[in-house]
Amino acid sequence: MSSSDRAWSPQSWRAYPCRQQPVYPDRAALERVLAEVGALPPLVTSYEIESLKAQLAEAARGERFILWGGDCAESFADCNSSAIAAKLKILLQMSLVLVHGMRKRITRIGRFAGQYAKPRSAATETIDGVELPTYRGDNINHPEPTAAARAPDPTLLLRGYERSALTLNFVRSLVDGGFADLHHPENWDLEFVRHSPLAAEYQRMVDSIGESLRFMETLAGGTIAAMQRVDFYTSHELLVLDYESALTRQVPRRDGWFNLSTHLPWIGVRTGAPDGAHLEFCRGIRNPVGVKVGPDTTVEALLSTVRTLSPDGEEGRVVLVTRFGAHRIGRAFPPLLRAVRESGMPVVWVCDPMHGNTETVVPAAGAWAGKSVKTRKFAHVLAEAHQAIEIHRGEGVPLAGVHVELTGENVTECTGGARGLTDDDLSRAYRSQVDPRLNYEQALELAMLIARA
Ligand code: PEP
Ligand code: CO
Repeated sequence: MSSSDRAWSPQSWRAYPCRQQPVYPDRAALERVLAEVGALPPLVTSYEIESLKAQLAEAARGERFILWGGDCAESFADCNSSAIAAKLKILLQMSLVLVHGMRKRITRIGRFAGQYAKPRSAATETIDGVELPTYRGDNINHPEPTAAARAPDPTLLLRGYERSALTLNFVRSLVDGGFADLHHPENWDLEFVRHSPLAAEYQRMVDSIGESLRFMETLAGGTIAAMQRVDFYTSHELLVLDYESALTRQVPRRDGWFNLSTHLPWIGVRTGAPDGAHLEFCRGIRNPVGVKVGPDTTVEALLSTVRTLSPDGEEGRVVLVTRFGAHRIGRAFPPLLRAVRESGMPVVWVCDPMHGNTETVVPAAGAWAGKSVKTRKFAHVLAEAHQAIEIHRGEGVPLAGVHVELTGENVTECTGGARGLTDDDLSRAYRSQVDPRLNYEQALELAMLIARA
């Protein structure tokens, strides 16, 4: 029996192997939370989801480019106005750079308003001789290394839902209030970009866009309203299926079920098994679905996954996010790309140049001398992005976008870039609880170099 013949419901995933789920000590408390989340309004609408799907289909045809980025994990503490505004600003500035260089419309998707749960490579870790559950994101438990803090607490799911709603509310208000108005890109400035080695190039771009806009408006005889607002879509890793299924609903006047916790959920490499619960869940929702593709993905598993998610070949539905690492993409990617192309199934290819390039270094100096730190080298991130662009060109299949871990703040988590951060700089402003993010300048630099490639 093919997967499309099997009955699906928002709960049918329960019959499949489900990886990376928190084990709640009090199941009744979890059920109470899920009933409450299930009765609350949705976070996004089916209308928005369908419009994103249409834009993803355009990007797959090479008519548009997707800029998808944000924190590895959002934290509850960063649900505040300056952190959210900084994230929007960096995505806006990057999209300006991409529009200017690529001459394509850009779709912006944030890893925000729900990116609160993380897969981990081990369920437990030993700290000072005590075995504790690993930290799985603010939706699940707390990072402090005590048994009480690490115990999964279902009420955090409710706190996560609320913070997603607060974040979205602020994003929508900023966007509606003209925050993204192309007539005033100076509003998107961040204090320290003025001291950046890239400031002059960015300023030239902003000035040239301003001039083109004034020219077009002179011709049009008025303000071009489309330039006054932009859309942001939300996304997060689809991980805790109890939560996701509580927000999966039917809506009036549309067929099928929508996961209304986010516009674009994605399945990570640790939960992507073709026979697993995460794929079963995604099979029945109408959202576009992201699937991470890595060096261990086989042609057979990939084709089966695409077929399961989109038996009728719906455009914009399946987003394949490649993350091989700069040293492996050249060998691992082309056979997968060709196999999907030859299958004729439409997919949206996006390059994530971050997750295959994580490494551990031991700084020689600075506050963290002698300690192991997780980082990424800017040169490796850029090299993977460049190779992806080349491979796509060579195979005649458009690269539809990039997926990046970044922050609008001046952190020191990845090394390299125009300012030449070294391992010894990492201790200065390392704030991520999970993966290292590009800082503001590194993110802008990446956009400039991708736009030029
Ligand atoms: C992520 O995107 O944060 C992530 C965990 O990615 P991957 O599943 O590709 O490792
Ligand atoms: Co990550």
